[in-house]
Amino acid sequence: MEKIIIFDSTLRDGEQSPGASLNTKQKLEIAQQLAVLGVDVIEAGFPIASVGDFEAVSLVAKKVKGPIICGLARALKKDIDTCFDAVEHSKKRRIHTFLATSPIHMKYKLKMTPNQVFQAAVDAVKYAKSKTEDVEFSPEDAARSEIDFLCRVVEGVIDAGATTVNIPDTVGYSIPKEFGEIISKLFSRVPNIHKAVISVHCHNDLGLATANSLSAIVNGARQVECTINGLGERAGNASLEEIVMSLYVRKKFFNGFTNIKTEEISKTSKLVSSLTGMVIQANKAIVGGNAFAHEAGIHQHGVLAKATTYEIMTPQSIGLKSSEFVLGKHSGRHAFEKKVKELGFKLVPKEFEKAFNDFKALADKKKNIYDEDIEAIIESEISREQQIYELESVFITSGSEVKPLAKVKLKRDNKLFSAEASGDGPVDSAYKAIEKIVSQKFKLVDYSLKSVSIGKDAVGEAMVKVEHKGAIYFGRGTSTDVIEASVKAYLSAINRILRKK
Ligand code: KIV
Ligand code: ZN
Repeated sequence: MEKIIIFDSTLRDGEQSPGASLNTKQKLEIAQQLAVLGVDVIEAGFPIASVGDFEAVSLVAKKVKGPIICGLARALKKDIDTCFDAVEHSKKRRIHTFLATSPIHMKYKLKMTPNQVFQAAVDAVKYAKSKTEDVEFSPEDAARSEIDFLCRVVEGVIDAGATTVNIPDTVGYSIPKEFGEIISKLFSRVPNIHKAVISVHCHNDLGLATANSLSAIVNGARQVECTINGLGERAGNASLEEIVMSLYVRKKFFNGFTNIKTEEISKTSKLVSSLTGMVIQANKAIVGGNAFAHEAGIHQHGVLAKATTYEIMTPQSIGLKSSEFVLGKHSGRHAFEKKVKELGFKLVPKEFEKAFNDFKALADKKKNIYDEDIEAIIESEISREQQIYELESVFITSGSEVKPLAKVKLKRDNKLFSAEASGDGPVDSAYKAIEKIVSQKFKLVDYSLKSVSIGKDAVGEAMVKVEHKGAIYFGRGTSTDVIEASVKAYLSAINRILRKK
């Protein structure tokens, strides 16, 4: 098994994500967590870029023990000096210097000839090497560079003392087969290639950063540069969690391993997301909110029977407690039964069937079903069993310019009764219509309405107190429709009164 070095660039390339900037304290907190996670190298920043970056890299170099602490520098003496000053305090320090080698970058950005670029790269590595032993060189935009020139530069910088040569797909242009071939060609054409570790650094402009990095590993790369949650310039970098978990889940295929404590992945991902303010998309591989969530009934049943039917890694392997069974319109009886038990209810088959049907009806109306929704359904199911009058339907006309009118239909012993009434508002009108059907007047002494779950489509819970012959009767009703909830609450109090009679 080959060890794959994990080089984390969350604090450098990741922090270059628009809107993701971090202060020194936050960078230190992330670096400390990266050390716990077990990354081999932390690229802590670009020290010449700003005073803040310099301070953050030096603080990380002073405080964080374990990983190599690396700083980025252009192929310029002043950059390399500043970078060295920042990483100097780490026992394990690295200078990472870079210069573009693609025709487009050399001509338009650097305005240098290939020979000048070659010489500047070699000189930069020699200078960095005079300061510290561990030197990395990146031929920027390597994936769009001419292969002969790339081979020449790689050979030159290794001769100059580079211990790691990193091959970046700077603009995320490459595709896996092609990128793998670049790495393979370097191995077959650069005579001194085995004197350095070959690394890759892939951007995600075509969504191929992880695939390109893995293809490079298959072709001999032994260091991968990546970031937590795939942060980075534009569409980001290869994401650490995807690379690491691919190597973990498909160990045999890659014949490789990393030193990452995978159970720290979820915690690290959440920390980076909260400190950078970069929200993780729900369907992001490994760390997205839905990565271990199952909604479809067939999947939920499968996972309950044997988790590996639909899970290729355990949630525990990335530090989550368990998979999540999301109850929604695609969920089936098995998941609903599991939830009912978890919430501590014991339902007889008839109650269960009714509650399940109510849940399905609610799931059609409401996107997210919370535990409170299920509780509300079950509680109203249990009280429905003891009902004398049951609500069949309620129809309301109401508004600022019209007199409210309620048409209520109730069922008793399988017979339908209906009545219409007008009152002070829609609820009062409905209550008056109920009183007409029941042929009795009741005194409402308290009425309250609250939401028992979250969101615009939350379940509303109405509570009433009704006075009858000196006694107080409570009633409770729930529905996503507040009028329906109010009617159910009044009816449940009236049913109590009638049962007492
Ligand atoms: O994308 C890139 O080429 C880089 C280099 C500095 C390695 O970030
Ligand atoms: Zn980059």
